[in-house]
Amino acid sequence: MNNQTAIMRVEALTKTYPTAAGEVAVLHGVDLELRAGEMVAIMGPSGCGKSSLLHILGLLAPPTSGRYAIMGQDMFGLSEDRQAAFRREYLGFILQSCNLFENSNVYENLEYPLIYARVPTAKRRAIIERALERVGLTSRIDYPANRLSGGEQQRVAIARALVNNPKVLLGDEPTGQLDRNTGGMVMEYFKHIVRERSTAMLIVTHDREVARQCTRGYTLKDGHLEPLLKH
Ligand SMILES: Nc1ncnc2c1ncn2[C@@H]1O[C@H](COP(=O)(O)OP(=O)(O)OP(=O)(O)O)[C@@H](O)[C@H]1O
Ligand SMILES: [Mg+2]
Repeated sequence: MNNQTAIMRVEALTKTYPTAAGEVAVLHGVDLELRAGEMVAIMGPSGCGKSSLLHILGLLAPPTSGRYAIMGQDMFGLSEDRQAAFRREYLGFILQSCNLFENSNVYENLEYPLIYARVPTAKRRAIIERALERVGLTSRIDYPANRLSGGEQQRVAIARALVNNPKVLLGDEPTGQLDRNTGGMVMEYFKHIVRERSTAMLIVTHDREVARQCTRGYTLKDGHLEPLLKH
């Protein structure tokens, strides 16, 4: 796969939430294309619809209308089962709330996606140890997830999203709870993954420094993506 291949393409995406007070239109026609090896930032004020967009692209919530393809395959037309299978195989998702399995330890949290992907037991430990090393958490491998600090939980969620080599990586403020050094380490990890594995990454962030390190950036404004002027 060369760097010109479109991994994901979104066209005319809209999202409207029905509420007691009437319909709330959040996305008004989002167009976006990501190629292999690209890391694209999305910025914008709280409540502008960034998480809504990421949830739709992560096949975790339905759109109101629009088209979405991953590697040429239409996503919105798939059955829920096929969407779930696609999500497990091709998508890595780092949610704004980390969503770890609280009653499991760190090792087990990273093991679940490997079990789904039918990675043999004997190979799992090495993969998990490598992923934890990249986020600086080797010493927490046997810790219960609910004993970790917020930033540690975020790093476990990052490692978990990456163990299966996703084709599309979606991060919702993945460095939001990290200090600058740890956040920098995680950004280097993302860049390495995107470059080495021809992944496409979409990263929602409030941090201009994070956006600056991306291939391109956009602001989500009035439900549309507007190119971010660099620096
Ligand atoms: N299920 C829902 N029903 C009704 N309104 C919703 C729902 N989910 C989100 N919204 C509204 O849609 C808007 C966009 O929410 P979203 O979570 O996408 O924002 P965001 O850009 O991610 O904000 P933040 O930076 O604070 O995380 C908000 O005004 C929110 O109140
Ligand atoms: Mg959000």
